[in-house]
Amino acid sequence: MDYFQYQNQQLLAEQVPLADIAAQFGTPTYVYSRATIERHYRAFADAAGNRAHLVCYAVKANSNIALLNILARLGSGFDIVSEGELRRVLQAGGNPAKVVFSGVGKTEAEIEFALNTGIKCFNVESEPELDRIQSVAARLNKVAPISIRVNPDIDAKTHPYISTGLKANKFGIDILRAPQMYQYAASLSHLKVCGVDCHIGSQLTETQPFLDALDKLLVLVDTLKDNGIVLSHLDIGGGLGVTYLDETPPHPSEYAAEVLKRLEAYPDLTLVFEPGRAIMANAGVLLTKVEFLKPGQEKNFAIVDAAMNDLIRPALYSAWMNIIPVQLKPAIKAQTYDVVGPVCETGDFLGKDRDLAIEPGDYLVVRSAGAYGFTMSSNYNSRPRAAEILVDGDQVHLVRQREQWADLWRGEQLLPT
Ligand code: LLP
Repeated sequence: MDYFQYQNQQLLAEQVPLADIAAQFGTPTYVYSRATIERHYRAFADAAGNRAHLVCYAVKANSNIALLNILARLGSGFDIVSEGELRRVLQAGGNPAKVVFSGVGKTEAEIEFALNTGIKCFNVESEPELDRIQSVAARLNKVAPISIRVNPDIDAKTHPYISTGLKANKFGIDILRAPQMYQYAASLSHLKVCGVDCHIGSQLTETQPFLDALDKLLVLVDTLKDNGIVLSHLDIGGGLGVTYLDETPPHPSEYAAEVLKRLEAYPDLTLVFEPGRAIMANAGVLLTKVEFLKPGQEKNFAIVDAAMNDLIRPALYSAWMNIIPVQLKPAIKAQTYDVVGPVCETGDFLGKDRDLAIEPGDYLVVRSAGAYGFTMSSNYNSRPRAAEILVDGDQVHLVRQREQWADLWRGEQLLPT
């Protein structure tokens, strides 16, 4: 559930008309709802009940420091994949002791920074990475907490680009090789083996693949225990899907209930979640203006001022995202449009074949754009990146200003004369 709804035919973010935001801050603009973010975070945190748990929000979904700060205030941990994300978490007041560090390519500098910051755990994805963490930790005279990301070879049944738990993917360690790798990790002087983790993919709409992966992880936990390696946490990753069109993903509480049932025999394991999309996607919209309506023989186009550089999901994954008007106009006849941006690519569309009752100058929003929206945006076609607004009840906060022209060439240099 989210807090974007119509009142008197006007779309509101919490108590604020989106048309007012467009008038004040211009478009394209991302608009987020604080109440929605908090509600979604609590859905995970509450679902774990009395069980020791930690929600580590996946920063890549949306890394604006105002949003990270909202989560930090609620006690959230964070799943990061780069030093940049860790620096954002720190900037936002996040607690490094609740940070897990995922990703297949951690550099020495990143490992050193994370060790000095005192993160909760490195989610290790390969043997050479173990060696690298060991050598950096030894140099700094520190002990690095580690967990091994296992690849359980489970088909998450999602888009191939966001499926990560299959043998053919670059992520994690083959679960059959994991016991051997744990033995090796346990033998290294500056590592402390703490946990196990997996992440099988994103936008999963069924619980079963998660449970299949969990079952495999628990067999591994038992094997390790028999070999004298006792883990303190199990990180089940992120990946819970959201509703873009008519998907019916399980509620976090249903999903967690199934997971907790399986963990009953493991009372000492802390459960870690890494949700990104499920917290942020439906907490944000992309607000855009209709510049032109361009009728055609085969297609009508609604040309808007947001483009693939602002929101790449439709172009990159053929993702379907709902597009709705800010002002409902019952007197106007709906027509079918492809909603496209000004970028010079045929792939620059936000939605195809949408029935909309609109006129030039109207505002539209792309829904469910809070996750993997702004964070995947670029300056392609020399377009300044959008502004970001956070609505909190009747309050409107600018949490990232629209990029200025000089931002486009910041850091670039003319050749000497
Ligand atoms: N943990 C790890 C290790 C991950 O790789 C990811 C996402 C997450 C957690 C969070 O997954 P979520 O709960 O958000 O599904 N750009 C794509 C999604 C890429 C997801 C990458 N990894 C999209 O727009 O659909």
